[in-house]
Amino acid sequence: MDYTLLNDGKTRISGLSLGTWSYADVSLWGSCDRDSAVATLREAIERGINLIDTAERYGDGRAEQVVGEAIAGRRDKVILADKIYSSHLRHDDVIAACEASLRRMKTDYLDICQIHWPNPDIDPDETFDAFEELKVRGKIRMVSVCNYGLSCAETLRGRNVVLNQMPYSLIWRLAEEQLSPVLEEEHIPVWAYSPLAQGLLTGKFRTPEDVPMNRRANRMYDSKWGVGRHTDHGFEQDIFAFLDELRRLSGENGLSMSALAFGFLKSRKCVGSILTGCRSIAQLEANLDAYEASVPGDLLEKLDALSGTLKAKMGKNADLWENGVNKAGSEGRIF
Ligand SMILES: NC(=O)c1ccc[n+]([C@@H]2O[C@H](COP(=O)([O-])OP(=O)(O)OC[C@H]3O[C@@H](n4cnc5c(N)ncnc54)[C@H](OP(=O)(O)O)[C@@H]3O)[C@@H](O)[C@H]2O)c1
Repeated sequence: MDYTLLNDGKTRISGLSLGTWSYADVSLWGSCDRDSAVATLREAIERGINLIDTAERYGDGRAEQVVGEAIAGRRDKVILADKIYSSHLRHDDVIAACEASLRRMKTDYLDICQIHWPNPDIDPDETFDAFEELKVRGKIRMVSVCNYGLSCAETLRGRNVVLNQMPYSLIWRLAEEQLSPVLEEEHIPVWAYSPLAQGLLTGKFRTPEDVPMNRRANRMYDSKWGVGRHTDHGFEQDIFAFLDELRRLSGENGLSMSALAFGFLKSRKCVGSILTGCRSIAQLEANLDAYEASVPGDLLEKLDALSGTLKAKMGKNADLWENGVNKAGSEGRIF
């Protein structure tokens, strides 16, 4: 496993990291096998993955409880990143949310406390003042954000933010259009979430109908399925045509589709860690193998061109879930 130094100058995060949304027992992911989730988290830590992402929002704390069980006795091996939801960004709510999360995970501190989604109605000074208070009290070590695109990244200047989670994969490259210069100037890497496009890039789904219904909620899929919050037509035809091409390249080069997906993200300068989800040790092992595989430069160029053509058909809205117009006048909640 390779590690990246954060801008605090001392914390090294693993290049592959593990998310826990699918451990939340929510309809999008279906039921969670808790024993398998705990075993997967523990195996990941054993195999050198030190960065774990969770959120109060995931099943109203259920994913945090799974994390708490998994990290018991191993806390010092983990960089624990939790998220506070956008409706909890007022001073007192931040403090209360953090304390409740710590209780659920049976730990004294978070390594990284993140803003799950920006909230343009709340003065960032209020939220970051609360973070400073939590730091002084030893409850959190660092702060971080998610889904901060061009319309709001300027508010991060001078706040010692360490990472910015964005949806980023071969299929969903729209984050590239939302990389504010602030990120580079403040040395804030992208923490790329949904790197396998919620399973599509493993190659296991051949048609949109193969994808579990509740997973067809995001803007990759047509709103006709009636399970998401957006009203777009989605990009299913283009995405599945792209996946066919990717499958062909995978076969020709003896590398799994996931290896190509991770290899592409590893080659992007802006990415600090790749945040995948694994339901089982078998998926974790497959993803570790895929992460460690080496993708040659000429193949990376082909992937760039092929996925670039797909990206060009998708417009500018990097928000995976919504197509409303935000306060800054651009499409999506925040991008
Ligand atoms: N900040 C945010 O707003 C935000 C938003 C979304 C996600 N996240 C974080 O990012 C994490 C990762 O996102 P993601 O879960 O969408 O990541 P992903 O890696 O794109 O998809 C993970 C899912 O794909 C399937 N999968 C993974 N590896 C596989 C394998 N080897 N073989 C077959 N299927 C496999 C599994 O689901 P099945 O087995 O059910 O198919 C797994 O749960 C989340 O857990 C969460 O922590 C953050």
